Amino acid sequence: MKWSQQDLSGDEEALRATLADSGRLPRHVAIIMDGNGRWAQLRRRPRIEGHREGMESVRDAVKTSSQLGISHLTLYAFSTENWKRPAGEVRFLMSLLETYLRKELAELHANDVRIRTIGKTNALPRSVQHVLEEAMEQTSANTGLTLTLALSYGGRQDIARAVQMIAFDVRRGKLSPEDLTEEAIASRLQTASMPDPDLVIRTSGEMRLSNFLLWEAAYTEIYVTDQLWPDFRRSEFMHAIADFACRERRFGKTSAQIAQAPSPDMSTLQRILHAFR
Ligand code: FPP
Repeated sequence: MKWSQQDLSGDEEALRATLADSGRLPRHVAIIMDGNGRWAQLRRRPRIEGHREGMESVRDAVKTSSQLGISHLTLYAFSTENWKRPAGEVRFLMSLLETYLRKELAELHANDVRIRTIGKTNALPRSVQHVLEEAMEQTSANTGLTLTLALSYGGRQDIARAVQMIAFDVRRGKLSPEDLTEEAIASRLQTASMPDPDLVIRTSGEMRLSNFLLWEAAYTEIYVTDQLWPDFRRSEFMHAIADFACRERRFGKTSAQIAQAPSPDMSTLQRILHAFR
């Protein structure tokens, strides 16, 4: 099924147009999808039911990002630390990922979504690696939303890997210690081809980054909501984006310096923000 901007409601279209006109459309949104277990426990259901329900929120986030014209969406689907969970839960998460890709690949491809991964994906079960490779290969030429799945991912591990690559280059004489700049590190991270995230969303009220995009999130806006991930649907996503658009990003400058840039119609943005409450 083709997603289209024509399917946006009045308020959604107003948000899309305001973001596009004001230059406040985030290029890269990254999400820490938290609270699946608590969602299930609140309903006296097994934790895996929370993950299953969370898949609907994944679908909403992907489709909504694409319709708003966001170019990168990165989802923290499985951290390096998540391997410590009970084996049955890990198996379930892996099978959910596999099912999602098998079921949704045609629709994602039809909607110009490019699938990528970051993390140590060679640690994933073979069948998951296989379906990921197929998805990445089939969608590699797509130019719409880039959907990056962070799988067996850890920010510190990625930074350590980049520094190790630099050390090898120094030993081979290809680099000198003076060349060890920010760019030298950034260009060796798995995220090198993406813009830094403009916005990190975290559900379930926890105020931490949990080893997610540590280097890349240096100037990222953070949006934390008490909603649990399975409850974070289309309208909650729209609300987060509208909230982001209302913020002033200074990157270390003063408000007066920033005021020279075009600013959006704040009253329209505030109205849109409340429409998605
Ligand atoms: C955190 O909730 C969620 C996860 C560790 C997994 C997130 C995975 C999915 C939503 C499904 C697979 C994703 C894709 C992209 C196909 P939690 O279990 O830590 O919740 P809790 O903190 O309430 O226990």
